[in-house]
Amino acid sequence: MKLTLSVIKADIGSIGGHEKPSEKVLQTITQHVKENAPGLLLDYKIFWCGDDTAILMTHTKGEDNSEIHKMAYDAFFKATQVAKSQGLYGAGQDLLKDSFSGNVKGMGPGVAEMEFEERPNEPFLFFQADKTDPGCFNLPLYLTFTDPMFNPGLFISPILRKGFTFTIMDVSHTDGDKVITLSTPEDLYSIAALLRDHDKYIIESIKVRETGEICAKVSTSRLHNIAGKYVGKDDPVCLVRVQKTFPDTGEVVSPYGIGHFVAGDNRGSHNTPLMPVKWGTMPNFFDGPAIVSAAGLCMHEGIMTEHVDIFEGPTWDRIREKIADKWVEMRKQGFFGCAMLGLGELEYTEIMDHLEELDKKFIVRK
Ligand code: F6R
Ligand code: MG
Ligand code: MG
Repeated sequence: MKLTLSVIKADIGSIGGHEKPSEKVLQTITQHVKENAPGLLLDYKIFWCGDDTAILMTHTKGEDNSEIHKMAYDAFFKATQVAKSQGLYGAGQDLLKDSFSGNVKGMGPGVAEMEFEERPNEPFLFFQADKTDPGCFNLPLYLTFTDPMFNPGLFISPILRKGFTFTIMDVSHTDGDKVITLSTPEDLYSIAALLRDHDKYIIESIKVRETGEICAKVSTSRLHNIAGKYVGKDDPVCLVRVQKTFPDTGEVVSPYGIGHFVAGDNRGSHNTPLMPVKWGTMPNFFDGPAIVSAAGLCMHEGIMTEHVDIFEGPTWDRIREKIADKWVEMRKQGFFGCAMLGLGELEYTEIMDHLEELDKKFIVRK
């Protein structure tokens, strides 16, 4: 059965600052999706991570379908009215354009979708991150799909051994989607050269080279490019199909043990380790660190099982402690040097005006 797995997410307001959506906001989104599901969706689930809410859906309408996107947009729009009525902070911040034009891409909400022939058993992972941007998935995906130190399946499985095709987007380009397609193993170093620049080059999708099957997809929106000014980080989502002819669950999650530094955290302007957390965990220190949750599910004919919380468990508790230490150490140097992002990535552009003013006061000594 050919079906589409879609996730559309937005930050449309939260409690206590940029912390979490209110119960009423979540209920409003759930109710809207429930009412509109018959005839449109096979199944759906609602998740939240930090201040972002995600609608995970299965259907047969393909990617970029305007009915699906409109339904999700309307759910976020309705919930924005509730967020406003409750005085939630940042109400409607990710709904950047007032009238819906057929597709939520470029409007603010993040979207990741994949259409595929459902396998007899279809396990997959859904990742949702907060206080960061889509570049946070560059390193874990790179390691899973290219490095046997994280993924022994790369030499154990004859299909994985043939490599993968990466589509990478230059998200600084705002006039259309600027993408490049590169394949492993021969393009490995070119892929690395691009992905190190995780504010500019983002993995959009990964396909199995041997079969052409879609395996991973990341939301690639850059809100500040859409809005022309800072409106919040582009907190991303990622879908990965796992097992058999794809990397297995362990191989996909193993790189999250690193706690690698990504862009985000307080005022979206810091370097923060990415901490894998259980669902329901809020940003917890200095509006950070950047957090990521992961759900493992299966589906049959598009009907999804309940999810397992992938980052639950004692090993992850220990990893979290180590990442917290790393985070606290970095915070000791405040705004200095690599603790904060470079000027081009600071999310509050007023500082540039301030620096221009100061520049006028410089004198040049001969
Ligand atoms: C970071 C984040 C927060 C805000 C900070 C200031 O992604 O959401 O750290 O940047 O709370 O928020 P504003 O400018 O909305 O008052
Ligand atoms: Mg967020
Ligand atoms: Mg936010």
